[in-house]
Amino acid sequence: MDTQAYSKISNAALIQELYRRYRCQEEALRKRIVLLGMPGAGKGTHSAKMLARFCMCHLSTGDLLREEVRSGSEFGKKLKGIMERGELIEDEVMCNLIKQQLAKPACANGAILDGFPRTIPQAEKLDQILKQSGQSIDQAIFMNVREQVVVDRLGGRWTHLNSGRTYHYKFNPPKVHGVDDVTGEPLVQREDDKEATIRNRLNVYQNKTSPIIDYYRKKGILFEVNAERPVNDIWKDIKTIVKTK
Ligand code: AP5
Ligand code: MG
Repeated sequence: MDTQAYSKISNAALIQELYRRYRCQEEALRKRIVLLGMPGAGKGTHSAKMLARFCMCHLSTGDLLREEVRSGSEFGKKLKGIMERGELIEDEVMCNLIKQQLAKPACANGAILDGFPRTIPQAEKLDQILKQSGQSIDQAIFMNVREQVVVDRLGGRWTHLNSGRTYHYKFNPPKVHGVDDVTGEPLVQREDDKEATIRNRLNVYQNKTSPIIDYYRKKGILFEVNAERPVNDIWKDIKTIVKTK
């Protein structure tokens, strides 16, 4: 145990964290939930809340790919160009990545899939992967928002690279400007949050990703949330869906 690191954290914060872990272990839902929605709909923002509340694993394919880019690997260099243009990575690469991640012990309490699937072939492959271990997607939550709203959100987003936590300079500012609330580390802007790339990401979403909404609707597991409201209102709806449906 790193006693020195813990000594910097207040007793109240430690007790709060213990309580959080106890409560979410007790209430583990063991569900597999897909979060759907345009870039900037708030998938990452609400995944962080779900992770804290229900102790599920958070699989953000965007965060995993950005980590690979930061590693400087040859594979990461290939990904970088594609992501900066706002295009999608090949389905096969993405499906292998998600298969490896789902098998990790952290996902035994359930999983939040944020940014995957993003095409119909990915959705079909995901069903096959889960079926091999007798599982399936329990719920797909569609965070519905208009394009103009997300353009404003992405233009002002700041991200904490190590955790994927996101802030917005106006709508959801950190306690201290430019600094992550939890770790005190600096926040950065994403390379793909430039206006031209945002526009392309939105086109790609409309053409390739939006058909997934119907894919889950036909299965009877789609839940729609109006994602244009304040974060706390959206979160209340998501909690209700996840806990009761
Ligand atoms: P990814 O990282 O998944 O990006 P995305 O889908 O474009 O979504 P974002 O992360 O931009 O938005 P979000 O919905 O998480 O919004 P957030 O909560 O941050 O993917 C990036 C790239 O990786 C892709 O373009 C592709 O190249 C590649 N990739 C990833 N997965 C892939 C796959 N499966 N197949 C192929 N390629 C793949 O919120 C945004 C901002 O708004 C924040 O500043 C936040 O504070 C603010 N905000 C959130 N909610 C509210 C609210 N209610 N009111 C006001 N502000 C809000
Ligand atoms: Mg995100």
